[in-house]
Amino acid sequence: MSVDELRELQLQRLQWTLRHAYDNVPHYRRAFDAHGVHPEDCRELADIARFPTTSKADLRENYPFGMFAVPQDQVRRIHASSGTTGRPTVVGYTEGDIDRWAGLIARSIRAAGGRAGHKVHNAYGYGLFTGGLGAHYGIEKLGATAIPVSGGMTPRQVQLIGDFEPDVIMVTPSYMLTLLDEFERQGIDPTSTSLKVGIFGAEPWTEQMRSEIEERMDMHAVDIYGLSEVMGPGVSQECVEAKDGLHIWEDHFLPEVVDPLDGTPLPDGEEGELLFTSLTKEALPIIRYRTRDLTTLLPGTARPSMRRMAKVTGRTDDMIILRGVNVFPTQIEEIVLRTPGLSPHFQLVLTTRGRMDALGVRVEARTDTPAERRDGAAAELAHAVKQSVGISVTCEVVDPDTLERSIGKLQRLLDRRTT
Ligand code: DLL
Repeated sequence: MSVDELRELQLQRLQWTLRHAYDNVPHYRRAFDAHGVHPEDCRELADIARFPTTSKADLRENYPFGMFAVPQDQVRRIHASSGTTGRPTVVGYTEGDIDRWAGLIARSIRAAGGRAGHKVHNAYGYGLFTGGLGAHYGIEKLGATAIPVSGGMTPRQVQLIGDFEPDVIMVTPSYMLTLLDEFERQGIDPTSTSLKVGIFGAEPWTEQMRSEIEERMDMHAVDIYGLSEVMGPGVSQECVEAKDGLHIWEDHFLPEVVDPLDGTPLPDGEEGELLFTSLTKEALPIIRYRTRDLTTLLPGTARPSMRRMAKVTGRTDDMIILRGVNVFPTQIEEIVLRTPGLSPHFQLVLTTRGRMDALGVRVEARTDTPAERRDGAAAELAHAVKQSVGISVTCEVVDPDTLERSIGKLQRLLDRRTT
């Protein structure tokens, strides 16, 4: 499809979505009316900026099914966020939604280098989380073989990879690290496995982490992005031939980037908060959803008509503000992985010192790091963080295998502040 054809298709689908949301979801009707806009006011794609945004709070206020735009008997599946910070957000899918989602995951796996006939080890969690089942249906749709392992039981995962010889693994990058260590613990050379491609997402990860995993596993590591409110995994996908950010499947989602503070639209190429409007979703149309994820929109490369998003730097709510300086865990990850002797397993601890916040980095030494190297590595890390991020941190290098391991999404930051 040419860019012009794509824009035409997006406009038609956007107009349908706005009308569908307005007619069938009381929340959208109220929000549009309060904003003085009507679906008919959308005559070109840029008109989207006239419509109100939607936030997680809107989904919570309409808990559980108030945002659904179809009668219950047309809802074939429900997923929900874990709800660790309040009520869970609930999302629903019609049969058509599930079919389109599977199609987009199939497209994503194909772009990542997976093919019909491949075996895919799926270690994303099955259940209310969209990762496991979302990936599963797409694997089958592609004509590949799904191995529905879900998360956890790490020693068994390693055994199954050895026995079933999958070509592709789908898992969070932090759990991939847990699996990598388990291979080594069992005395298996991770480069000797059948795996050719890893499709990693559900949490931020860096180029340095890509190199770490690619070298230690001898496979391609590519990024998959998505969020339950917008669909689940498969909203955007990195192409294995370019590994230069994630192509957004723009025939189904309209992206925007805005200033996270005041919501002003930003031009492509500038970093800000990512917003999505769904273009084909029936059960849960979502208008200008504020993802809180920070990224930049870039022109298409491997798939020329679809724009890319740069790897996500972090979420606005994961941002640590230390004496006026904004810090994201991904910035620390980059530096940890550049420092000789340090493993990728690290934790950030926020404490109160006097009336100030203080940030500590606890990081495991690599298994082959000599004990006398540890102090030097800690000092180098603190120095590099000061140099490139501009903040003072205390660094502690701890024994290998002492920090908590991920079995899904990793919680990097421990907030131990007393005030
Ligand atoms: O994490 C969906 C998913 C499953 C994506 C499996 C990829 C693979 P939620 O639980 O709703 O959905 O969390 C969505 O996770 O807003 C981002 O903050 C973060 N996230 C997801 N993918 C990436 C990624 C799933 N590739 C939230 N890079 C999003 C950085 C990501 N952050």
